[in-house]
Amino acid sequence: MAIYLDDVSRTFGEYLLIPGLTTKQCLPSNVSLKTPLVKYKAGEKPAIGLNIPFVSAIMQSVSGPELAIELARNGGLSFIFGSQPIASQAEMVKKVKKFKAGFVISDSNLTPEHTLADVLELVQETGHSTIGVTDDGTPNGKLLGLVTGRDYRQEKDSHDMKVKDFMTSFSKLIVGYLGVTLSDANQIIWEHKLNALPIIDKEQRLQYFVFRKDYDSHRDNPRELSGEDKKLMVGAGINTRDYKERVPALIEAGVDVLCIDSSDGYSEWQQETLHWIKGQYGNKVCVGAGNVVDKEGFNYLVDAGADFIKVGIGGGSICITREQKGIGRGQATALIDVAGARDEYFKRHGVYVPICSDGGLVHDYHMVLALAMGADFLMMGRYFARFDESPTKKLTIGNRFVKEYWGEGSNRAKNWQRYDMGGKEMLKFEEGVDSYVPYAGKMKDNLDITLGKIVATMCSCGAIDIPELQENAKITLVSSTSIVEGGAHDVILKDQN
Ligand code: IMP
Repeated sequence: MAIYLDDVSRTFGEYLLIPGLTTKQCLPSNVSLKTPLVKYKAGEKPAIGLNIPFVSAIMQSVSGPELAIELARNGGLSFIFGSQPIASQAEMVKKVKKFKAGFVISDSNLTPEHTLADVLELVQETGHSTIGVTDDGTPNGKLLGLVTGRDYRQEKDSHDMKVKDFMTSFSKLIVGYLGVTLSDANQIIWEHKLNALPIIDKEQRLQYFVFRKDYDSHRDNPRELSGEDKKLMVGAGINTRDYKERVPALIEAGVDVLCIDSSDGYSEWQQETLHWIKGQYGNKVCVGAGNVVDKEGFNYLVDAGADFIKVGIGGGSICITREQKGIGRGQATALIDVAGARDEYFKRHGVYVPICSDGGLVHDYHMVLALAMGADFLMMGRYFARFDESPTKKLTIGNRFVKEYWGEGSNRAKNWQRYDMGGKEMLKFEEGVDSYVPYAGKMKDNLDITLGKIVATMCSCGAIDIPELQENAKITLVSSTSIVEGGAHDVILKDQN
């Protein structure tokens, strides 16, 4: 006979936190949001921790290099999506690792043999007016010249004219050398009245541009997540198919942590992948696994060597797994169960394996609830997809701005490795939808508000860090009528008049 669980599958909206004693120490400025990312032994520190408990989802429509850079600058971490060729994923990882505030990798490049028509097309496409002319037309080719709007007259000059005939050639350029500080680069820009300073290495290969207009935009990021080498940290998603080729390429590109990406991770395929990675690299390479929704799944993947475990099946905003396959579990119930398994494992083995609540976080208060219920960090897709930095297009629908957001199990992403069950048979149905989310502007502005709310709730609960919140939180179930009581009610709202 089948096993029937006694508990009901519940989600975050069904719970509330009851405030604890707020001591005078519980000031927002005293609250730490630091949290472990990978497993560690009692009394030791994790090899990697986060400064805020947020990671971005392993999705095409979320975690590209631009979002990864901004999230790491704000203390979290992105997992660059794995549903792309190995070389392009490795390239994205490299882009994050190469990031230096104020130093921009050139995204508009041509060779001397291109024409003015190519220049105009590129300017139209990227919106950037400075073009690096390199021997092979790549961002790191040998720098041979620059083209800016001052080098040509769009109306008068022939569009067939070759770049080499009108570019400002290398011998006339002022350049900086790799290793120059941002303040020295800005000094050169100032002294020579430049708009852009190309930074090259000893072999004359283009490395970055420093732009005059960026001068004021470099803020300090006290929360920035960087390694000892001061480079931003970045993760990457992998699958259980091509890991023998993908993992070495990502490590070579400088990735800091990996995560096996699957909608249902309780499988021998994940065990095999973890064994291979740990066999090859030992603890030098950290890798998360999942997703699971119960103790058995957690223990299986931890025993196989996982460094953290991702929890959640079917709760994602774009997810239709539960409707299609009838598998999953209410996200709150899954999290509470797995958090119990994590604590038991810690008591038994003295090893703390962090868990990540993945999917279904809608309101900011859901995030504090997830942390209070035992999540060490949170993975979000919809939340990040709304920001300028996500890789998708911003569009207008009616009179509102939206951004595109599609599931990895949708036809659009074609990430069948995430959903297949092994063997040669590829999946025949979708587990995700293609959708829009309301555009929300810059990540930092939104994060400041969300984190402000989380910190305020923690102070109400009398907790100045995440472990204290997990230890002391008082959580209650709410009835559907008391949910109504929680919003504005029985008043006439002014802005709806
Ligand atoms: P969200 O934050 O609620 O939007 O959920 C994001 C999470 O949904 C991801 O981290 C994945 O775990 C999951 N996910 C991504 N794409 C799909 C899909 O196509 N079907 C089901 N789940 C998905």
